[in-house]
Amino acid sequence: MKTAKWLDCIVPSPTMAVNQKVIELKSKGKKIVSLVVGEPDFETPDFIKEAVAVALKKNLTRYTEAQGILSLREAICEKLKRDNGLHYDPSQIIVTCGAKQAISAALFVLVDSGEEVLVPSPYWVSYPDMVKLARGIPVFVETTANNRYKLTIDDLEKVYTSKTRVLILNNPSNPTGVLYNKEELLKISEWCLKKGVVVISDEVYEKIVFSGRKFVSTANCSEEIYNNTVTINGLSKSHCMTGWRVGYAAAPKRVIAAMTNFQSHFLSHIATFIQHASVVALKDDSFIPKMVVAYEERVNTTLELMKKHMSLSNCVVPDGAFYLFPTVNKYYGKTYNGKTISGSIDMATFLLEEANVAVVPGLAFGMDNNIRLSVATSLTEIQDGLEKIGQALIKLN
Ligand SMILES: Cc1ncc(COP(=O)(O)O)c(C=O)c1O
Repeated sequence: MKTAKWLDCIVPSPTMAVNQKVIELKSKGKKIVSLVVGEPDFETPDFIKEAVAVALKKNLTRYTEAQGILSLREAICEKLKRDNGLHYDPSQIIVTCGAKQAISAALFVLVDSGEEVLVPSPYWVSYPDMVKLARGIPVFVETTANNRYKLTIDDLEKVYTSKTRVLILNNPSNPTGVLYNKEELLKISEWCLKKGVVVISDEVYEKIVFSGRKFVSTANCSEEIYNNTVTINGLSKSHCMTGWRVGYAAAPKRVIAAMTNFQSHFLSHIATFIQHASVVALKDDSFIPKMVVAYEERVNTTLELMKKHMSLSNCVVPDGAFYLFPTVNKYYGKTYNGKTISGSIDMATFLLEEANVAVVPGLAFGMDNNIRLSVATSLTEIQDGLEKIGQALIKLN
C-alpha cells in the first residue's frame, strides 16, 4: 500500500535502531554491554504501582477530559510552584503521552508550514523529525565542546531569519548532560522575546542534576519570558516511569487550548488509571536524590575509566542527566580487519563488533565527532564495558 510521500523525510529513531540491533545480537547468544539506554535502570517506586492498582480497583477506567483530569493538572501546578517557583492555573496545563507528545503537540500548534524551528546541536534525536512532522523546518544551531555545547547569542544571530518561530531548549541536555544557569537562560530567552521566537523548554532531566549545581526553569527568568515559554516535563526520567507515558506542558492558556484541541482528535488522553496514579507520584519525590547520587558516581567512574582506557581528554563533564558525550574523532582514519573508521557510525559499529559494547553514534544527535554513552546501567556493566572498549582500541592501526 502506498504511504504519503511527504512522510519520506521522517527517519526512525536512531537510538531505537541501535537498541534493536543489541536485542538481535543478544538473542543470538552474544554478551553485549549496552551503554545505549535512555531510561532509568531503577524500578518505578512501589507506592506508584500501588496507586495504579487502587485506581483500577475503583474502576477508574473510563474516558476523561482530553486535557487530563483536573486533580492531576492541579498536582502538576503544585509541583511547578514548589520546585520551580512557577504559578500556573490548571487551565494552563495539558497532560500528554510522555514529554515526547507534549513537544510534538506544541510544535503542531505553534508552527505554520514552512516556518523555522531552531534546534541547538547536539540535539535529542527526535527534535528534527518532530519539527518536520509539524511541517516546520528544523534549523540547526551549532555549538562547540569548547563552549560546553552551550548556545550563545552569536550562534542564534547567525541562523535567525524572518521565518524563525520557535527555539527548542533542552536543559539539562541529552546527550551532553550540560546545564544552563539562570544568567545564560535569561540572555537566550530575552533574545527570543526580542525576536518574537517562542521557547519550548524541555526540562525532562530537571531532577537529575549533580551536587553543587542548581536547576532553573526557563519560565522562571521573568514575567515576559514566562509568557513566551512552553515548559515541558514528565514523569519518565524523574519517577522511573518511561513506559507509563506521562508528560505535560505548561504554557499560556491559548497555547494549551490549541494543544488540547489537537490532542482531542489525535489521542484523546492517556490511560485514566495512570492519570490517577500520577497524582500520587507527583506528591512524593523523596526517593530521587539517592538515584542522582548513583548516576553521579557512575558518571565520575566513567570519566576516570575513559581517561584510562580511551585516553580521552575531550569529554565535557556533565552537570546532570545520565549521559556522556566524548569526542572520538582522533580514532578516525584508523583501521581494523581491513575496515577504516571514518565517522561515528563506523566507530559505534567497531565498538559493537570488536568490544561487544553498544553505544549511540554522535551523528544521531547531529555531531559526527562523538559517541554517546549512557550510565543508566550498573557500575559493574560500566566497568566491564569501558575495559572492553580499551582492549578493542588497542587493535586499531
Ligand atoms: C531530551 C528528552 N526529551 C524528551 C524525552 C521524552 O520523554 P518521555 O518518555 O516523557 O516521552 C526524552 C527521552 O529520552 C529526552 O531525552
